[in-house]
Amino acid sequence: QTDDTHAMIEAHALVSQLYHYILTSTEEGTEALNYLHDRGLNDEVIRQFNIGFAPKSWELVTAFLEKRDFDQHVMIDAGLLARRDDGNAVDRFRERIMFPITNDRGQTIAFSGRLLPGVEGPKYLNSPETALFNKRETLFNFANVRKEIRQTKAVTVFEGFMDVIAASQAGITNGVASMGTALTPEHISKLKRVTNRVIVCYDGDSAGLNATYKAVQLLQEARGMQVKIISLPEKLDPDEYIQTKGVVAFKDFYEQQQIEWPLFLMRYLSLATDLSQADEVAHYVEQVLTEINRIENPIEKEVYLAELNQRTQIDKAVLRQQLAQRQPQPQYEEFAFQPQEQRLVKRTALD
Ligand code: GTP
Ligand code: MN
Ligand code: MN
Ligand code: MN
Ligand code: MN
Repeated sequence: QTDDTHAMIEAHALVSQLYHYILTSTEEGTEALNYLHDRGLNDEVIRQFNIGFAPKSWELVTAFLEKRDFDQHVMIDAGLLARRDDGNAVDRFRERIMFPITNDRGQTIAFSGRLLPGVEGPKYLNSPETALFNKRETLFNFANVRKEIRQTKAVTVFEGFMDVIAASQAGITNGVASMGTALTPEHISKLKRVTNRVIVCYDGDSAGLNATYKAVQLLQEARGMQVKIISLPEKLDPDEYIQTKGVVAFKDFYEQQQIEWPLFLMRYLSLATDLSQADEVAHYVEQVLTEINRIENPIEKEVYLAELNQRTQIDKAVLRQQLAQRQPQPQYEEFAFQPQEQRLVKRTALD
């Protein structure tokens, strides 16, 4: 570690404490704190995730760091300050709720700042990529839950870090999230070092469904990963589900509605398929049978054939016969997954 990265880590630790103090203990933080309370977060979880608030100021953090003798260039490189056109450094985050992002050792290396409702601008602002912060590798909350993942032998991957936080408060304490990017092979190899069971619990809207489709394919490419999918109804994300239906309903859904890839695929593809058109039915059946063909367990095969029969009204004997004509395929575990046709992904953009 160079002196610069050391200073960056030290500065992040101090600034995260400052933001947390402003949120929880000052007048300036009251509106943001009320907003988080309104969203259902309690003080315990606000403390646990070290959530903070960056007030509407250009120079608060700039002066705070200067007073502590941090080099301004290094602080700009760290993404805590920004360089204005006139050459002066200013606070990068202003009037945002601040979520510290930690590395695998639990050190804060970046922030994501959320706007309060009613304020103009992009909803979330992340730190830039720096010597410390690489989005392709960073999983929100990973350091905190690594032990929990080993103990429960599973990790839950969420789309947004507010979902990680809300789920954690609800008792699902093995959650991580990527930083607004799609799940990457780097994320997956990080997870693979601690578990082979992944539960994908993305948003129930079409963006979330598309992201689920891609994430699960990538997870299967990694081989040896056991993947379950939670597909939330009514376009809700986990946080919204908890808020509208309650903690108990969410935990029940989480425990009881974990589905496997073939069933998810049947639901997902059906969104982009007109099942009153014979050619579309044929294409749909074709794709689903390809997946069912990978399953070894004959009972499981039957379960999915029954589901396919229900969805398409194609006779089970016909489906079985079609399946019998195929070459047996290796299971997911040994099979390097090829991405499905992209057009299906695009056609599922519903909203
Ligand atoms: P909340 O309203 O706070 O619940 O967020 P959301 O549920 O609408 O988040 P969304 O599902 O849109 O996005 C999931 C994740 O994508 C977030 O946790 C962020 O990491 C990221 N994200 C969302 N919006 C933005 C944005 O405007 N800018 C950036 N950089 N990232 C974003
Ligand atoms: Mn959004
Ligand atoms: Mn979303
Ligand atoms: Mn969301
Ligand atoms: Mn949300």
